[in-house]
Amino acid sequence: MPMKYIMEPFRIKMVEPIKKTTREYRLECLKKAGYNMFSLHSEDVYIDMQTDSGTGANSQFQYAAMMTADESYGGARGYYQVLNAVQDIFGYTYAQPVHQGRACEKVLFPCLLGPGKYAISNHFFDTTNGHVVMTGARAINLPCEESKHADVPAPFKGNIDLEKLEATIQEKGAENIGMILMTITNNSVGGQPVSMANLRATGAIAKKYGIPFVIDAARYAENAYFIKTREEGYADKTVREIVKEEFSYADAFSMSAKKDAIASMGGIIGVKENEDLIKQVRLKTIPNEGFLTYGGLSGRDIAAMAVGLYEGIDDDFLAYRVGQTQYLGEKLHEMGIPLQYPVGGNAIYLDSAAIMKHIPWYEFPAQALSVALYLEGGIRGGDIGSLSLDRDPDTHEQQRADIEFCRLCLARRVYTQAHLDYVADVIKYCADHAADYPGYKITEETPVLRHFTVKLEPLGEVK
Ligand SMILES: Cc1ncc(COP(=O)(O)O)c(C=O)c1O
Repeated sequence: MPMKYIMEPFRIKMVEPIKKTTREYRLECLKKAGYNMFSLHSEDVYIDMQTDSGTGANSQFQYAAMMTADESYGGARGYYQVLNAVQDIFGYTYAQPVHQGRACEKVLFPCLLGPGKYAISNHFFDTTNGHVVMTGARAINLPCEESKHADVPAPFKGNIDLEKLEATIQEKGAENIGMILMTITNNSVGGQPVSMANLRATGAIAKKYGIPFVIDAARYAENAYFIKTREEGYADKTVREIVKEEFSYADAFSMSAKKDAIASMGGIIGVKENEDLIKQVRLKTIPNEGFLTYGGLSGRDIAAMAVGLYEGIDDDFLAYRVGQTQYLGEKLHEMGIPLQYPVGGNAIYLDSAAIMKHIPWYEFPAQALSVALYLEGGIRGGDIGSLSLDRDPDTHEQQRADIEFCRLCLARRVYTQAHLDYVADVIKYCADHAADYPGYKITEETPVLRHFTVKLEPLGEVK
């Protein structure tokens, strides 16, 4: 029977109260936070959709593993569990746990990049971009054309533009390209999936020019589920089989385990077979993250991650997980709300410039919409538009995003259908009253990853 909402494949055994507040109170919270969503106190948020990173509900099996975890400094059991899982799920020989995704980037990227080098991607996420720049290299984003048109449906808007990829390699010189990185799913263009055909072709280009191919694997399982449901020839394969194939085309991965591995904290660097690379990774891990078998994590974190790696690739879980996002996306689409369509796996990406038509891009319409959603409904999302792009590292000019996205993430196994219906109603209200909300200007910013701590001021009255 076709269902509008794919029901939860679990029941709830522990609950966390959330607080309802008044609009007046929330306006005061916004002022105190310098209109920065990261600076709000989480207890003042009703529905927290800022991220799906580390916010998933742990299962009873994860809690059980945490209770019996090995906290030894050297040779702890959890390390071998993660290593076995990486060999089993991805078919990679080596695994290095680290404390989260950006720690993978901090450790791995300097092994491949440095001043004068380029890194090419279907789109770097903000932290991956930051770590590329911090090695002295330059990041080049080559998202496919379909990703830039929110209202034009396409099954794999996360793809890299293969023609531009090859042209860029030839223009810059293969010896100057330190890595090709594929973000699956592609967060910055709307949590959009990358097709197997695109991964395969990218792997072939990387091989042809002798360039290391790295997967940013934060949402690799959702990506596999989209391949299963949207790409010809994969409907009868299990997610596990698809995951194996996805990773067979790359040389290494950098994974924030806080997403699809449903861990509260953790990251993994995977290396397929390059012994020299894993040696460099290990060398950098010890001073930066701690000894190799705990990599900046407690034994409890590693144990939960080892279990989560398997829970995150369960076909029933993924049908519900991706189904929740599709449910909210379809509801908004039917309401006529402009958004990246069809929606991806982890979040709804509202096309804020199309909603806040009176706010120019340099006054950050996605930030304005994020503020409005919090003000009206206590919902916390965030800008994945021009505000979250740092200034150009060479010219210091404000960079312009292709689409001004306001991102509303769905934490895994956390909110119910009723919560999602409420979110849709608040979005509709804000869209209907868009003209009432002002744009923003920056009053304080840092040179890298500024959006985490930026302070802003409204360019008009917030009524
Ligand atoms: C695609 C992608 N890569 C890397 C990261 C960084 O991971 P972490 O937050 O664990 O440092 C994120 C985090 O949201 C992400 O979405």
